[in-house]
Amino acid sequence: MTSVRFLFQLAASAILASGPLAAEEFGLTEVTEAWLMGPHSDYHSPSFTHWNEDGEVPPACAACHSETGMLDWLGADDTAPLTVEHPGTINTVIGCASCHVSEAEALDAVPFPSGVTIGGLGGSATCTMCHQGRTSTDTVLSATDGMDLDTVSEDLGFINVHYGVAAAVMHGAEVRGGFQYPDLTYAGRFTHVASAGTCVACHEPHSTEVETEGCIACHQGVNDITAIRTRHADFDGDGSTSGGIITEIEGLHAMLGEAIVTYGREIAGTPIGYSSDSFPYFFNDSNGDGTIGPEEAAFPNRYASWTPRLLMAAYNYQVVAKDGGAWVHNPAYAIQLLHDSIVSLAERVDVDLAGVTRP
Ligand code: HEC
Ligand code: HEC
Ligand code: HEC
Ligand code: HEC
Ligand code: HEC
Repeated sequence: MTSVRFLFQLAASAILASGPLAAEEFGLTEVTEAWLMGPHSDYHSPSFTHWNEDGEVPPACAACHSETGMLDWLGADDTAPLTVEHPGTINTVIGCASCHVSEAEALDAVPFPSGVTIGGLGGSATCTMCHQGRTSTDTVLSATDGMDLDTVSEDLGFINVHYGVAAAVMHGAEVRGGFQYPDLTYAGRFTHVASAGTCVACHEPHSTEVETEGCIACHQGVNDITAIRTRHADFDGDGSTSGGIITEIEGLHAMLGEAIVTYGREIAGTPIGYSSDSFPYFFNDSNGDGTIGPEEAAFPNRYASWTPRLLMAAYNYQVVAKDGGAWVHNPAYAIQLLHDSIVSLAERVDVDLAGVTRP
């Protein structure tokens, strides 16, 4: 643990002292300022305050939501690595030690919820651990095992992949973070290019910001990264291929949302709607107006008329919703998940599939 204390001292001196020459030499002032402005140091975020009233962060949540939990998971607290034995301390953010304790620096391989372990991650291993989501294809398959696809089951509830699931999307079929329909093949890791192929190649690890000048240098002709596109098919069938690849994903995501609503009404027999900010996201659309208002987005009104087919499609809707960077982390995988979910629902309800294509 010496190296951690060393870093803490340096970081503290970088923040507190007026002219920390040694710290400047290490670039620590800059690094610490970047971290302070980034999301991982935000003491007020729900990600770090959600458990404050309970007094501790449960072991199931602690690895990603408390520095002591991350150190426990790494085995830097003298317990076994890759498991969390103790509850985490509330309101602790992701500090320097989370990524710089020697166990974190040495971390290179990370297991995903599907049980698949991905190696060779280097400086992106810690990012990959926390941004991998909590479920996979396998979770959905085992929940729906042996059930008729279109029969409502009381045993089913929404399965939420979790949040900020960039690593699950980037590794695609290799880790099965989306719901992959049996018998179809899916895009694996989006390797992109070496200079923009890993978390820390694109995201500065402290601010987590993406330096976009390099992007524009390769992707000439755009002045905003969301205008980037290298695939020219009209995936969402709207007749336009002029926007960035993000517009195809947004188009398909909206189509899937509508197909889910139609299926809920016509096949599951209970109107359904989505609220992006309220757990567990899918609710009874009690007044049938096609949207979930504040009075409907309450936990007791959560949607409870799931069929396996609806659950699979809703799972993928959420995977794409909860990786706001899916268009750059792995556009082909995101498009395949949305496309296949729409096609599955279209086996039972009317959806206009004209022009829709699969990468
Ligand atoms: C594998 C890592 C991981 C585990 C385990 C985990 N989370 Fe998270 N959670 C995250 C990440 C990453 C985010 C933040 C995503 C973002 O903001 O981009 C997050 C965000 C959240 C948020 C904030 C959601 C929001 O809309 O802002 C809540 C609440 C939350 N998690 C609850 C839990 C609970 C409860 C558990 C345990 C049952 C848990 N998490 C376990 C990784 C994890
Ligand atoms: C989320 C993980 C994470 C956290 C938290 C984090 N670092 Fe880093 N840090 C990294 C990674 C990854 C690199 C290596 C970057 C690379 O390989 O390009 C790095 C590099 C560094 C470097 C080398 C200089 C540089 O810019 O590459 C210093 C110094 C450093 N970190 C200090 C700190 C301090 C001090 C803190 C706390 C204020 C901190 N780090 C918090 C992940 C993290
Ligand atoms: C110990 C778990 C953990 C590690 C390690 C970690 N993150 Fe995070 N990350 C989180 C949580 C939790 C949040 C949400 C923080 C908040 O709400 O302020 C988050 C937020 C983010 C965000 C902002 C998301 C948004 O919704 O705007 C980005 C980008 C990000 N992380 C990238 C990275 C990168 C890149 C790395 C590796 C250098 C990394 N993270 C390492 C848990 C982690
Ligand atoms: C060295 C050149 C290079 C750099 C730097 C680069 N890219 Fe790319 N990018 C490519 C190439 C080549 C492809 C096509 C890769 C493929 O499809 O396998 C691509 C594909 C993409 C795609 C997918 C487009 C589609 O239609 O599917 C997106 C999005 C993207 N890049 C965004 C970015 C962003 C954002 C950055 C900066 C963080 C960046 N790129 C940096 C060369 C580069
Ligand atoms: C090709 C460059 C590239 C790579 C590789 C990459 N990202 Fe991103 N990431 C981006 C861009 C661009 C955004 C969108 C940023 C924005 O909208 O401000 C983004 C967004 C995110 C977000 C926020 C998503 C949201 O919901 O708003 C998180 C978290 C994140 N990335 C984490 C990661 C992690 C973890 C990895 C590695 C598994 C990774 N990224 C790999 C470029 C990249």
